[in-house]
Amino acid sequence: MANWRRLTQMSHRSCLAFVLCFSMATIFLYCIYTAPSRANTYFLMVQAQGIMLRNKVRTFGQMIRLYTKKNRSENGIDNTDESRTSEYPMQPTTYLPENFTYAQNLPCPQRLPSMKGHIDTNMTEISMEDTELRFNKFFDIKFGGHWKPKDCIPYWKVAILIPFRNRHEHLPILFQHLIPMLQRQRLQFAFYVIEQSGSQPFNRAMLFNIGFTEAMKDLDWNCLIFHDVDHIPEDDRNYYGCEQMPRHFAAKLDKYMYILPYNEFFGGVSGLTVEQFRKINGFPNAFWGWGGEDDDLWNRVHYAGLNVTRPEGEIGKYKSIPHHHRGEVQFLGRYKLLRYSKERQHVDGLNNIHYNPVISLTPLYKNISVDLKPELAPIEDY
Ligand SMILES: *[C@@H]1O[C@H](CO)[C@@H](O)[C@H](O)[C@H]1NC(C)=O
Ligand SMILES: *[C@@H]1O[C@H](CO)[C@@H](O)[C@H](O)[C@H]1NC(C)=O
Ligand SMILES: *[C@@H]1O[C@H](CO)[C@@H](O)[C@H](O)[C@H]1NC(C)=O
Ligand SMILES: *[C@@H]1O[C@H](CO)[C@@H](O)[C@H](O)[C@H]1NC(C)=O
Ligand SMILES: *[C@@H]1O[C@H](CO)[C@@H](O)[C@H](O)[C@H]1NC(C)=O
Repeated sequence: MANWRRLTQMSHRSCLAFVLCFSMATIFLYCIYTAPSRANTYFLMVQAQGIMLRNKVRTFGQMIRLYTKKNRSENGIDNTDESRTSEYPMQPTTYLPENFTYAQNLPCPQRLPSMKGHIDTNMTEISMEDTELRFNKFFDIKFGGHWKPKDCIPYWKVAILIPFRNRHEHLPILFQHLIPMLQRQRLQFAFYVIEQSGSQPFNRAMLFNIGFTEAMKDLDWNCLIFHDVDHIPEDDRNYYGCEQMPRHFAAKLDKYMYILPYNEFFGGVSGLTVEQFRKINGFPNAFWGWGGEDDDLWNRVHYAGLNVTRPEGEIGKYKSIPHHHRGEVQFLGRYKLLRYSKERQHVDGLNNIHYNPVISLTPLYKNISVDLKPELAPIEDY
């Protein structure tokens, strides 16, 4: 009898345990597949904080390397963790005086008096028509989203590439903030919105490769900005020109409580010269779904012997536009791919994409619409 009671108790307990495990697993899967953007942010913060606490592994990149049992330091180029400060050199902070006069025959300076610092952000949704009217009429933006300063010669010709899917309400908000800022910075620029049609998971990286290839057919751009549609800069001294080194503009995001989640973080908004981008064979095409492609780009940059710079202090702050629909699914295979970053770099990137774009010009941007499939970027053995 006692035995029997113990047995039923046991089975009750294991039944309870089973139900608990099952519901936790369900919640976990729900988070990954149904509410991924919130889950992604959460996982990233947990990962980052866990690593900060354990000082044996100081950065997420080191964790990836440990996890994948690869030792990048053997290449002798990625030992920058000790010397963080030298990786992000202080920028000169002197701006030109208010009474500075532009000269049409001289290059535009980079530290202009028109760059005032903090930008007031306004996330109120506004129609594309009103936005077009405002900028085409009063801000002299040419049909297609092109602008060029008239009072000096721009050194940087910047193609702004925006990967896109189902975020129509974000585009006008981004333009409202970016256009006045870029004009104050006296940069020549145009916007390329590269939209993924079809039903495959989002491939941000491949969209950038396509945007780059298409943009270069228009003009001899020398600088590329890879810009998420929901990232709004909060400081107009965050100069969107390029540099000797690839640059990570979005150093401090409000959604990560304005701290860099990990030293190798290269997401949100980044910029490379055309020369640098060609040298590293562009982005990888093999990352389908959320996450990993920016880490792979970081690896590519470092394998090419380049370092990444970031804006100092307040300058690198960004706000995210709040979403009211589901995000993209996580790419769970990313660690496996990151393990072979180096081997894949030469066979996956600008040199293996094929695509059929549908291109149209709108008042503020060029719309490059593509249906992506893995077969469009075949990868040789590596
Ligand atoms: C990995 O790098 C460390 C130094 O950072 C070195 O001591 C170790 O031998 C390396 N391991 C391999 C497998 O190369
Ligand atoms: C990158 O940074 C590392 C460490 O700070 C330095 O040793 C290396 O020379 C830098 N590379 C370039 C190309 O400046
Ligand atoms: C511009 O302003 C500075 C002080 O801010 C002054 O020293 C300089 O003389 C001014 N230059 C001209 C051309 O007015
Ligand atoms: C934000 O933008 C909306 C739409 O353009 C405008 O109506 C509103 O007044 C703005 N809010 C602020 C605080 O400027
Ligand atoms: C881009 O063009 C495609 C195909 O013409 C269209 O379906 C889509 O709505 C456009 N997207 C944007 C953001 O303009």
